[in-house]
Amino acid sequence: MATRHTGPANRTTGTRHTGGTTGRNVAHGEDGCDDAPVSAQPGIFALGTSEHSYLELDLLPGATPADLVRAAVSLVGPLSTTGGVNLVVGFRPEHWAHVSRPDEAPPSARSWAEDLVGPDGFTMPATQHDAWLWVAGGDRTAVFDNGRAVVAGMAPVASLARETDGWLYQHDRDLTGFIDGTENPSLLEAPGVAALPPGTPGAGSSVVLFQLWQHDTPRWEAISQQEQEQAMGRTKPDSVELAEDVMPPDSHVSRTVLEVDGREQHIFRRNVAYGGVSDHGTAFVGFSCDQWRLEEMLRRMAGVGDGIRCALTRYVRPLTGGYYTVPSVEALARFAPEDPE
Ligand code: HEM
Repeated sequence: MATRHTGPANRTTGTRHTGGTTGRNVAHGEDGCDDAPVSAQPGIFALGTSEHSYLELDLLPGATPADLVRAAVSLVGPLSTTGGVNLVVGFRPEHWAHVSRPDEAPPSARSWAEDLVGPDGFTMPATQHDAWLWVAGGDRTAVFDNGRAVVAGMAPVASLARETDGWLYQHDRDLTGFIDGTENPSLLEAPGVAALPPGTPGAGSSVVLFQLWQHDTPRWEAISQQEQEQAMGRTKPDSVELAEDVMPPDSHVSRTVLEVDGREQHIFRRNVAYGGVSDHGTAFVGFSCDQWRLEEMLRRMAGVGDGIRCALTRYVRPLTGGYYTVPSVEALARFAPEDPE
């Protein structure tokens, strides 16, 4: 097994930890299933949906964070039961912290406030919005119709700032042609990686990084497959990690593996392809129980600290970036409209 390339500072040292964590996406009290569970939003883990729509919204003047949360939550029930899609909702971390109980907000979550600039000037722009709603399904029409319903339902309190349509390219590849997700935790491990554990502040909630990366496909395709593999740190046909003695320190894998005291710090990625023939890229959708992991991966990709910039960033350019709190189901449910019955 290749030695993992560790991050800067005292948080990232040691060797690869392969076991992952053993979190659950539903946790029950000791007395059994009648106790209040703590559940991450299920759409985070609903793999296999081929069609995606990401809607970023901003509060209208005069509307409050509570209005925003109530409007979003009122959509979740109807759309997820009869709409034929998954809807995952996230909020500007400060808005959620403002309206939630103190024990229902992830402690690490905060807005992306300033551009991230590497030592050579490479810049990841901060484009934070107030809400992020992700509609996903197996059918383009259902995603389109429900996306329109989301925007209409939110219209009294928030306006659409950006919409991004995404899809699964060749089942599991991104638009570089590489398999994307090989090192993702399995569905048994993912809830423990993506969401805070039961009994801790923010239990069942998650931090998501949503970031659009535009690909310079002609530039990428102008280099050889071997050069592409060096940039990625894995082989192209079958996603085998390059051996330690040939793994470049600036490969994407080298820059995104994080270890703390010998334990690898995983995230759960749901990236998809976005765009059309002339303008396209990767919608990076990364969930974590701890925002630091996502921030540190971005810093390392930009070369902050050691000056080693991720080779992939010579071919892909970040256009946007924002962090959102994705609350637990139970925390959200407290904002649901009262059942008339
Ligand atoms: C255009 C943007 C990106 C593309 C095309 C891309 C693509 C890939 C590919 C092909 C892999 C190797 C296979 C795999 O393990 O999934 C990978 C690994 C990974 N990427 Fe990215 N990625 C992008 C951006 C990012 C960003 C912004 C982050 C973090 C904030 C990130 C985090 C990771 C992590 C954690 C791994 C697994 C590393 C390992 O444990 O070996 N990626 N990515």
